[in-house]
Amino acid sequence: MNSSIALVTGAAAGIGRATALAYAKAGCDVVISDIQRDRLVEVEQAITKLGRKALSVVADMSVESDIRTLHADTLAYFGRLDYACNNAGIEGENAPTHESSLENFDRTLAVNLRGVFICMQEQLKLMLTQGSGAIVNISSVAGLIGFPNLPAYCASKGGVIQLTKAAAVEYAEHNIRVNAVCPGVIHTDMIDRVTGRDPEIEAQYAAFHPMNRMGTVEEVADTIVFLSLPQSGFITGQALAVDGGMVAR
Ligand SMILES: NC(=O)c1ccc[n+]([C@@H]2O[C@H](COP(=O)([O-])OP(=O)(O)OC[C@H]3O[C@@H](n4cnc5c(N)ncnc54)[C@H](O)[C@@H]3O)[C@@H](O)[C@H]2O)c1
Repeated sequence: MNSSIALVTGAAAGIGRATALAYAKAGCDVVISDIQRDRLVEVEQAITKLGRKALSVVADMSVESDIRTLHADTLAYFGRLDYACNNAGIEGENAPTHESSLENFDRTLAVNLRGVFICMQEQLKLMLTQGSGAIVNISSVAGLIGFPNLPAYCASKGGVIQLTKAAAVEYAEHNIRVNAVCPGVIHTDMIDRVTGRDPEIEAQYAAFHPMNRMGTVEEVADTIVFLSLPQSGFITGQALAVDGGMVAR
């Protein structure tokens, strides 16, 4: 039997890299996409070492033609797409709403929300043709609850949840499932940029969670793979927090 094909955006680092490797460990061949060409090479090698095929495509999620080409390349190389994880995202500026720049709002929405929308359009077309598929969009706890000084990020991640629910309802009868994952604070480059690796600030971030620690990229990746594989076959339209209990408070 042919391997399942998974696609991950923002796969050069952090949650995306871990997800690409988790798909490979689950027996998938993987399309990995990012703007960081050099780091994609390392991820491609790691997937190959696991005995799976990898296709690297440099694509910027704020550029429509890059996204359309990414999916055309996927179809040309692998002939199908079973699972997609729309993960690429940026944190944007940290500033009070009344002082935030419109440039930041537009840029954050372009990558985090418009990019996911265009990805979903392409993925749904492929999956409709096949009659099956599963999409996992990466939102955030910031899509579920408010955080100060991150208006564009919160809006983009809330939008991802609603895109997810709308598509889940729309495509359920076509055997296509669409879910979102909402991570708490996960130790990645993004969080190192925000904390500046200051141990005091890191401890404050850990304390957001009842478990009093940050999550690991593997904990998020394993949830994404679970929501992709047939074992979650009756789950669609969910926004699942992977957050050590943060939003349960
Ligand atoms: N780390 C966290 O605590 C956390 C929490 C909640 C949600 N998230 C979300 O998870 C996703 C991954 O975050 P991460 O922490 O791994 O971030 P990261 O910054 O460590 O990695 C993000 C990856 O996305 C890529 N990327 C950025 N802009 C891109 C663009 N325009 N086009 C294509 N690729 C682009 C980067 O090059 C990088 O490889 C993001 O959507 C983020 O908002 C992260």
